[in-house]
Amino acid sequence: MKLKAMLIASVMSLLPLSGYAADLTIGFSQIGSESGWRAAETTVTKQEAEKRGINLKFADAQQKQENQIKAIRSFVAQGVDAILLAPVVATGWDEVLEEARESEIPVLLLDRTVDAPEDLYMTAVTSDLVHEGRVAGTWLVDEMAGAKCNIVELQGTTGSSPAIDRKKGFEEGIAGHDNLSIIRSQTGDFTRSQGKVVMESFLKAEGGDNICALYAHNDDMAVGAIQAIKEAGLKPGQDIKIVSIDSVPDIHLAMADGEANATIELTPNMAGPALDALEAYLADGTVPPKWIQTESKLYTLKDDNKAIYEMKKDLGY
Ligand code: AHR
Repeated sequence: MKLKAMLIASVMSLLPLSGYAADLTIGFSQIGSESGWRAAETTVTKQEAEKRGINLKFADAQQKQENQIKAIRSFVAQGVDAILLAPVVATGWDEVLEEARESEIPVLLLDRTVDAPEDLYMTAVTSDLVHEGRVAGTWLVDEMAGAKCNIVELQGTTGSSPAIDRKKGFEEGIAGHDNLSIIRSQTGDFTRSQGKVVMESFLKAEGGDNICALYAHNDDMAVGAIQAIKEAGLKPGQDIKIVSIDSVPDIHLAMADGEANATIELTPNMAGPALDALEAYLADGTVPPKWIQTESKLYTLKDDNKAIYEMKKDLGY
């Protein structure tokens, strides 16, 4: 990787900065379209590439790691200049990342991390996924102010870094508060439809009166769960408090209607910082940090959620 990139850099150092990206062909292995947030990330990535004159080769893995591995191998065979990878799960990447490295093709991770040696990728652009869970947990601690509360949890895709880390962070956030306990926790695979199905099963097993709060690892599952709660004759946001992650337009609409209580924002623009890092590396050899952290902002009912919805609704979610 280094040799090829340095050769490109030495040639390109004679060109104006705006000329660098125009010659690049980059492969993007996207997970799929499980959530509104994921759709926005795809939109923004395509826009960022277009803006920079990058030829982006897009591969939708339809939630399957094997499809992502095939896509990476295909990008390597085509000799792309770099690969953007949003890894569906955390493990099982070493071999294919090694193949990319042997072909001197830098890989940049978007929004999720991998359990692999750091030298197998150039950088990872992600939020602090544990912190997001901690913020959600701390919000609920404050909201309940010592009152007893049974929590149900909708986890993201099993084995994915956000599902692992957001669970860990939330548990840390509520630790030491004996009034709060997680009574059920199951995956809803980050989708609206599974969020609804699993919430229905929670309500059936526990009865609505025994559930005081829902923590969902993303907003789409929360939106599905809101539907299930309403169909059970309960008031989401009141009978059952709801905190989730992403800040997609629909959760702000639900918050504006008082049907959800809090969300933590995840920017869909992971590609911008990743492409900036790649371009800087190709321009003058600047080695990016292994982790480029994006911000996490908490929104509650104190915010103007209708205005946030209006602002976000046409951004590709
Ligand atoms: O990896 C980021 C997560 O993946 C988002 O929070 C979720 O909506 C998406 O599917």
